[in-house]
Amino acid sequence: MTHRTLEPGKLVIASHNAGKVREIRILLEPYGIDPISAGDLDLPEPEETGSTFAENALLKAHASTQGSGLPALADDSGLCVAALGGAPGVYTADWAERQPYEGEAGRDWYMAMGKVEGKLSEHGPDVDRSAYFICTLALAWPDGHAEVFEGRVQGTLIWPPRGTLGFGYDPVFRPNGYDQSFAELDPSNKHAMSHRADAFKKLVAAIF
Ligand code: IMP
Repeated sequence: MTHRTLEPGKLVIASHNAGKVREIRILLEPYGIDPISAGDLDLPEPEETGSTFAENALLKAHASTQGSGLPALADDSGLCVAALGGAPGVYTADWAERQPYEGEAGRDWYMAMGKVEGKLSEHGPDVDRSAYFICTLALAWPDGHAEVFEGRVQGTLIWPPRGTLGFGYDPVFRPNGYDQSFAELDPSNKHAMSHRADAFKKLVAAIF
């Protein structure tokens, strides 16, 4: 497959998730790209109606490129737990959604991590705790062209949560080969081997 190259210049990071935007900015630093987030441009957040990570990443990338007239990079990612048949998967962010009766709107990552642990514990103490994070990056151009890249990192779910760095489910994910959770590892370590870094390496090899 021939890939289209991305010239240095402005690129919209098609996300309203501050943790993702921070990580993508760091990953883009060496490539002469001037990133601006969808939030900074007040672009609306499209509903993630796709049934796969790639469909949702493409939805977000196309919405931002159409709203801005600039190339846009979207990240759709999630946690897939073997013993839960791959859940929460594309619903990873939804598992953190508070119900209206719980008061303040927004996402509660501790609740979400507890939900994963609760479902795992239903399978007994010897349950397989292996899981992976997946990251699907979609890069879209204003003329409708788009390319998709996928990365993964394998690990084990730990309980209780450990560490305060990172975002989302980082405190319960220990990548294979490490003693610390993603939220305890120095961010430069996470950026060297995360699912996002893996997808990014593929994007860089193809696009820059
Ligand atoms: P979405 O891609 O916006 O649907 O959200 C995916 C969700 O997966 C995020 O909101 C995070 O909770 C979780 N997630 C994705 N990447 C990471 C990561 O690097 N660390 C921890 N959680 C992550």
